[in-house]
Amino acid sequence: MKKMLSKVLKKITPTKKEIQLEQELVAQIRKKLSRIKGNHSHLEWCGSSARGTHLSKDKDIDLFLMYEKNISEEELKNEGLATAKKLFRGFKWEKAYSQHPYIRGIINGFKVEIIPSYLITNANEKKSAVDRTPLHNKFLLEKMSEEQKKDTRLLKQFLKGVGAYGADLKNCALPGYGVELLILHYGSFKKAIEGINEMKPRHIIKFTDKINEEGIKNILKNQNNPLIIIDPVDDKRNVASALNEEQFQRMIHASKEFLKKPNIKFFFPKKIKPLPLKKIKQYLDQKEIIAVKMPFLKSELPDIFWGQLRREEKKLKNQLEENDFKVTRSTTWSNEKDVFMLFELETLTLQKSKKIFGPRASDEENSKKFLEKKRKIISGPRIENERLVLETEREYTNAKEFLEKEIKKEAKIEQKTIRKSLKKAKVLGEKELLKEYKKDFAKYLTQYLIGKERFE
Ligand code: UTP
Ligand code: MN
Repeated sequence: MKKMLSKVLKKITPTKKEIQLEQELVAQIRKKLSRIKGNHSHLEWCGSSARGTHLSKDKDIDLFLMYEKNISEEELKNEGLATAKKLFRGFKWEKAYSQHPYIRGIINGFKVEIIPSYLITNANEKKSAVDRTPLHNKFLLEKMSEEQKKDTRLLKQFLKGVGAYGADLKNCALPGYGVELLILHYGSFKKAIEGINEMKPRHIIKFTDKINEEGIKNILKNQNNPLIIIDPVDDKRNVASALNEEQFQRMIHASKEFLKKPNIKFFFPKKIKPLPLKKIKQYLDQKEIIAVKMPFLKSELPDIFWGQLRREEKKLKNQLEENDFKVTRSTTWSNEKDVFMLFELETLTLQKSKKIFGPRASDEENSKKFLEKKRKIISGPRIENERLVLETEREYTNAKEFLEKEIKKEAKIEQKTIRKSLKKAKVLGEKELLKEYKKDFAKYLTQYLIGKERFE
């Protein structure tokens, strides 16, 4: 185990050269800032690169441009963005939004974000969620040992390897900060894996008993959170709020399997080789799959469009099921150019006749209502197993046709960017899907059809 972990560490720890480049870059920006007049106090380097918990080749630098609390929000926004733009002078940059606007760009190959923020000492004083980030930085820099930084990197890579890392809407898993907190809480990589292995839904992790009861109640109200990591700098917030049930169970399953049989493939899963087309055909012959192909639109942050895709997938799935097309599995894949939504069904066609069960004939009032309702009757009414039964006409019997109609409808009613994408959507049957079997999508479809976790 020890040998394996040090092998992993060698691969994922940034080199001295990488660290030096990061430091030089931040020093260069700080120097530039010292020549800019304004109300700012200083530049604070945050995120994992500031704490030495980032993975090699990450190239992600988060810088916070700090202002005193007496500056108005309007001023902070205007002056903060103007100053940030000046810092990017000569480089490629753009304005972006998370909880509030900031500037991001590329400097010497690094993805740099400059985020105007308030200097606060307690999360209660925050005006926006970004103000919390410098507090995270301070907390971790004080608490984390050098050994634990290495263990954080190991746990990040482990979760990445098994496909359960990242709090964005594509991954729905833990953010880097959450991983750092797990290491602090359990003490080491090994103990954290053992801890995850023991977790049950609604597991709570906290760093102090002095917690605001109201805040916790609020967090617990959200029944969908399988794991609750109470932010040590803000007890009203669950750091693991993006983690969904599927990713939570994936973390636990992976930890169990790893403890049974530790192997480097958990950190670095084997590359997927696309199966030959003949094999894919064989799989598809045994399955009923329809796909929706549409463009990934970049008019906003990818994360926002991913959220819309996830929502649309759920919506289409529900509509299929409401029309009796039972969905056994669904998924959305994208290389951020094309999107493929896959719906695997129990059956692609249904019979025209749909059986509906009514009340018992002895229930006079409801029987009357049941029989009086206007509908096209194919067969019945009759008694079957003590109930009234009718067979009526189904509106849709072909899943592909239904989905085509449904997407056209969605393209009219949806408000967001997804609408433009739905307008260009195509529903693909299995033959058409095979035509798309190339490059990265071929890898994905192979993995989907084999249907195993990456580490198995
Ligand atoms: P990043 O997404 O860059 O994460 O957010 P990170 O901690 O640097 O981790 P990796 O190694 O890049 O994956 C920067 C900071 O924003 C706050 C945290 O303080 C984090 O360190 N943050 C971000 C959150 O509190 N929650 C989130 O979901 C995301
Ligand atoms: Mn980062």
